[in-house]
Amino acid sequence: MTSTYAAITGWGKWMPPAVLTNEDLSTFLDTNDEWITTRTGMKERRVSHVSAMDMATAAARRALACAGVDAGDVDLIVYGSTSYEEQAPNSASGVQVLLGAKQAAAMDVNTACTSFLYGLSSATAMIRTGMVRNAVVIGVELVSRYMDWSNRNVAVLFGDGAAAVVLQATDREEGVVGSVLGCDAEGRATLRIRGFGCGYANQGVTYGDTLWDFDGPQIFKRAVRGMSEASAKVMAKCGVTSEQVDLCVPHQANLRIIEGVAKYAGVPMEKVMLTVQRYGNMSAATVPVALVEALEEGRIRPGATLLMPAFGAGLTFCSLVVKWGERVTPLGVLDDEFAPPVKTALEMVNEIRARQDPHHRSLAGLMAPVFAETRIG
Ligand code: UT7
Repeated sequence: MTSTYAAITGWGKWMPPAVLTNEDLSTFLDTNDEWITTRTGMKERRVSHVSAMDMATAAARRALACAGVDAGDVDLIVYGSTSYEEQAPNSASGVQVLLGAKQAAAMDVNTACTSFLYGLSSATAMIRTGMVRNAVVIGVELVSRYMDWSNRNVAVLFGDGAAAVVLQATDREEGVVGSVLGCDAEGRATLRIRGFGCGYANQGVTYGDTLWDFDGPQIFKRAVRGMSEASAKVMAKCGVTSEQVDLCVPHQANLRIIEGVAKYAGVPMEKVMLTVQRYGNMSAATVPVALVEALEEGRIRPGATLLMPAFGAGLTFCSLVVKWGERVTPLGVLDDEFAPPVKTALEMVNEIRARQDPHHRSLAGLMAPVFAETRIG
């Protein structure tokens, strides 16, 4: 009996045109280009003027054109993200409408920065078991809208972006051939965005406003450990050696984290795809955008073996081995665009800042126990 695999046959991204530089950030935060560059490797990031669902749909339409698949034939849409338009209905259903993918099941996956890769693993498993024949998997993030722009610890790190892939059933050994998914939940409190969920009343935040708990050095250590261990496990599981990895496409939260993970995996930096300088950390969109750019730059050859490690709030972590197929060029190209932004990135950020509640910061000090987990029993 032949096995079914889930080949990646389409890919596409949509990046917001408005650029926010380190200099822009230093106009309203006590920070500077030198600190941001040496600590993170980041120079600039993007700020979107359109909604997360629009970004996701644009990326998905491009990926479908690349695969030569009609939206009406899509079986499953996976929306990997921490950026929702509303609590209900989910965002994948909105993308279904915008794409015109009437036959598609629609689900959101939120594991923070690993959402795209968790979604890719889940959709692959659904194709491999015959539940669906194809899927569109999206990684999208509109962090600029819920960033706490008064907090220099986090505000300099993140950016907006979107990318998607199309998966199709095949008998050839392609696509995700191994995944290791995990969660270092003891580190949950090191990265938390207050002000969104049902617990907001106890979180010292006006609902819809946000306050980020963020212990950078702890996350850094746990991220390197989680991604390195997951990579070692998935490589052993797939019988892939460091030398056999043609390209590592990692989550891009910090250049120094990437260097640590690559070193542990034995993959030289020449074989690591980097976008962190230009886009910062786009959470769930990071890995798929880097994958699309690697293809656009001709860095993925037919039959290549890819390693994809990531981590995010939770602290979720994962690493995937992907075997690329024969085709590394798109079947079709779609490059229609939204109307351009009428404001600069800095002007958009300043508008969001003006709406943020100045009172919650003082309240937050009184609410310190929210860092502790609420336990039953
Ligand atoms: O995708 C998941 C997202 N999570 C992450 O990406 C977190 C991973 N962690 C990191 O990438 C790093 O820990 C950071 C880049 C966040 C911080 O780098 P670090 O080398 O760990 O610095 P630090 O947090 O230990 O801070 C060093 C100093 C502190 O000042 P003092 O206490 O030494 O006087 C900070 O207050 O740098 C200060 N600082 C800043 N200075 C200028 C923190 N943020 C900034 C800033 N500009 N933006």
